Amino acid sequence: MNYKINKILNKKNKSKIVCLTAYSKNIAKILDKFCDIILVGDSMANVLYAEKNTHNLTIENTIQHTLSVRRGVKKNLLVVDMPKGTYKNITMAKKNAKLIKSSTKCDAVKIESNSNNFNIIKELVSLKIPVMGHIGYTPQFKNKFKIEGDSEKEKNKLIKEAIEIEKAGAFSIVLECITSRTARLITERIKIPTIGIGASSYCDGQVLVTDDMLGLSGFYPKFVKKFTNLNRVIEKAVKKYSREVKKNKFPSKKNFLNGSKYR
Ligand code: KIV
Repeated sequence: MNYKINKILNKKNKSKIVCLTAYSKNIAKILDKFCDIILVGDSMANVLYAEKNTHNLTIENTIQHTLSVRRGVKKNLLVVDMPKGTYKNITMAKKNAKLIKSSTKCDAVKIESNSNNFNIIKELVSLKIPVMGHIGYTPQFKNKFKIEGDSEKEKNKLIKEAIEIEKAGAFSIVLECITSRTARLITERIKIPTIGIGASSYCDGQVLVTDDMLGLSGFYPKFVKKFTNLNRVIEKAVKKYSREVKKNKFPSKKNFLNGSKYR
């Protein structure tokens, strides 16, 4: 198996896995210094394109953003979300996963579980395309938000789903918006790492949407911690720029280009 995937698998029960999303190079380059996994999430539909869900994101769009992210990620694992509708059946999943992998040189793809598409994971893994699973609140298949895993029935269903995904050959599973008890039980039950978002600290790793944790997106549910307020930082800088342009303070003499010196 690929050494980058092995590195992630070996972290189980040893050290926490750090994951964030990226949709472009400059952010990806920073994440690559501190994250084990960089995910080109289909959350880009909400975050970048102001869509109300992730359902209309195209494979072309995903590939385009991944090409940018690829330029920033040199060391760590680059995972790409397969957009909704691109893995409806095995033939389609194989064709599209191959296309994403060969055109972007990503390391792995992520597919959301509909409790029934385990055979797709198996087929992709047999083509040597590493797969990350995704259970709990899976925005591609659910129209209404709901926290998952509170009842016994839901808990058992999620545990079963995680076991099937592990059996199919996935190297990790995202647990999205799952109650802490169920997240803990899943994490204890399977050998592959679980990466939580809104699924407590009982997971092997954590993922957040970068624009949310940077305070840029305006989307701050309880499970998101705003590690800074980039909105405020950017606003201050743009306001200052605007003021200086209007007052003719920028550009100043030190920004003038005279002669051949560019930097
Ligand atoms: O699309 C995304 O960003 C994701 C994460 C929330 C896990 O799937």
